Amino acid sequence: MNISADQVTAALSKVIEPDLKKDIITLGLVSNIQVEDNKVAFTVQISNPAMHSKKRMQEACEFALERAFGKEVKSAILIEALPKDRDPEVRKVLPNVKHIIAIASGKGGVGKSTITSNLAAGLAKQGYKVGLVDADIYGPSAPTMFDLVGQRPKGVEKDGKTLIQPIESYGVKVLSIGFFSEPDQAVVWRGPMASKALNQLFKDAEWGALDYLLIDLPPGTGDIHLSLVQNVPLTGVVIVSTPQEVALADARKGINMFQMDSLKVPVVGLVENMAWFTPAELPDNKYYIFGRDGAKNLAESMNVPLLAQIPLIQSVRESGDVGRPAVLQENTISSKVFDEFVATFVKAVNSK
Ligand SMILES: Nc1ncnc2c1ncn2[C@@H]1O[C@H](COP(=O)(O)OP(=O)(O)OP(=O)(O)O)[C@@H](O)[C@H]1O
Ligand SMILES: [Mg+2]
Repeated sequence: MNISADQVTAALSKVIEPDLKKDIITLGLVSNIQVEDNKVAFTVQISNPAMHSKKRMQEACEFALERAFGKEVKSAILIEALPKDRDPEVRKVLPNVKHIIAIASGKGGVGKSTITSNLAAGLAKQGYKVGLVDADIYGPSAPTMFDLVGQRPKGVEKDGKTLIQPIESYGVKVLSIGFFSEPDQAVVWRGPMASKALNQLFKDAEWGALDYLLIDLPPGTGDIHLSLVQNVPLTGVVIVSTPQEVALADARKGINMFQMDSLKVPVVGLVENMAWFTPAELPDNKYYIFGRDGAKNLAESMNVPLLAQIPLIQSVRESGDVGRPAVLQENTISSKVFDEFVATFVKAVNSK
């Protein structure tokens, strides 16, 4: 069989980039076309680097080649993420955000929001540009944890469109689903509406350039999680668990969900929260209230990094309640623990 590079180009011009809605040749996403007999190799860049999108693109290209050249054609296709600094026309969803990281847990109340708020404020303290989306439709906490209760984001005009302006606190740009409801009113966001409201926090907001956009997820492994993974190009996910067996079982489910073949979201690592308690008057004693090393062992057995063991500290809870994350304290046990976590997190993300 004699295939030419031009024929390959013609065949691939039938393949549409799903986010950008144009064909991959017109968008200039195909490079390194090499042909030898019936073997074709090339590289395609896509806007959403999640594994399921890569797989879909691979299948679309294989289908286009087969239609043009028949079943004998053999292909080696390398699919990679578009570099983040490429023309925004090409990467539409959050083109100026370097890393989008979701913070999840299976079980509720294990400290996701506490970990997320301290991570966000800690990264901002280090000079990173940070955004936080509080996606907890059941119980948003960012307004409380960032001292923003009762605030309403403003709209800004950009290119004839009104965008939601995140509200800044301690150097972190925050948007919470809680900004759009009354604090004491139970809002029941139902499935599709919740997903739509959430998507707007990403697509219709003025985030600007960010190093990290953190997403505080609701507990569990539901529709919100799936819709997010499908709509937002996540760099990875951090899973939070206490050392307790009921929490670990749910954390395991969470890890399995994100690692499913159809999603393939990289797990940046596991955080063990409430790992032990040390009373101020007995600084050398550690009490393992929820069990010992449970999340550490889970991380080992599932082959994901353990990013931190955060003790149960009264001032961590108090700081959350008064709206000033503990990582911002001067040289306390809490601030040191979170500073270390921030450093480990940055290294882990950059190795993904
Ligand atoms: N390391 C810690 N030390 C002390 N208190 C903590 C710690 N981590 C979390 N807490 C407290 O535990 C409670 C639950 O934490 P948080 O709201 O962060 O959990 P969550 O996983 O986000 O819960 P939800 O599933 O409801 O969203 C809060 O009152 C918080 O202040
Ligand atoms: Mg929470």
